[in-house]
Amino acid sequence: DIPVIAIDGPSASGKGTVAQRVAGKLGFHYLDSGALYRLVALSAMRSDADLADEHVLSDIAARLDVVFEDAEIWLESENVTDAIRAEACSNAASRIATYPRVRVALLERQRAFRQFPGLVADGRDMGSVVFPDAALKIFLTASAETRAQRRYKQLMEKGIDANISTLLQDLRERDARDSGRSVAPLQQGEGTSLLDTTSLDIGQAVDCILRQYAE
Ligand code: CDP
Repeated sequence: DIPVIAIDGPSASGKGTVAQRVAGKLGFHYLDSGALYRLVALSAMRSDADLADEHVLSDIAARLDVVFEDAEIWLESENVTDAIRAEACSNAASRIATYPRVRVALLERQRAFRQFPGLVADGRDMGSVVFPDAALKIFLTASAETRAQRRYKQLMEKGIDANISTLLQDLRERDARDSGRSVAPLQQGEGTSLLDTTSLDIGQAVDCILRQYAE
């Protein structure tokens, strides 16, 4: 059986960076499941699709022409690595993710990342829905203020303009939507270990996960 480490948690908790490093240390593959929701959002916005039309959106999700290559993401042969991180895309992705049909349309695509020798997957429902048999399930979180600071820094580094209080407000709205939705709500499920990174740096969070995996 190919092992999976599922890392779920709220927006900007550092899941992506931590998950990628854990994958690197173990030589495992990495799935950024949030990128898939962002890609559906970008694709929908570009084709002027109605963001309230679940059928159209799940069609877009099912047909998504995407390639993940190292740290780069390609949509219909265009490099959209940075484009999908824009706040407009974050917000649309979070709304799109509330549609059950969209989530189902992305299910097999996510499971296909489970390849030898193993996978580290980050998202909201990796441990609960996509990989319920994961070898290790982590719920990674941090205070909302810390997360807003981290997101701000990340956007600035990419040269994307941002405002910290808007980010904090957006994060809170997104948190409420992610945990309040009826399908695959974000919550710390059974058998999941809590990792609060408010006062941990990336290296410490990575070590903590590697230690738990080795146990
Ligand atoms: O970067 P951030 O943590 O804000 O978001 P992300 O992980 O890139 O995910 C973007 C959006 O997709 C989130 O706001 C979630 O609503 C949704 N998502 C989800 O519903 N399920 C997942 N497994 C991953 C993301």
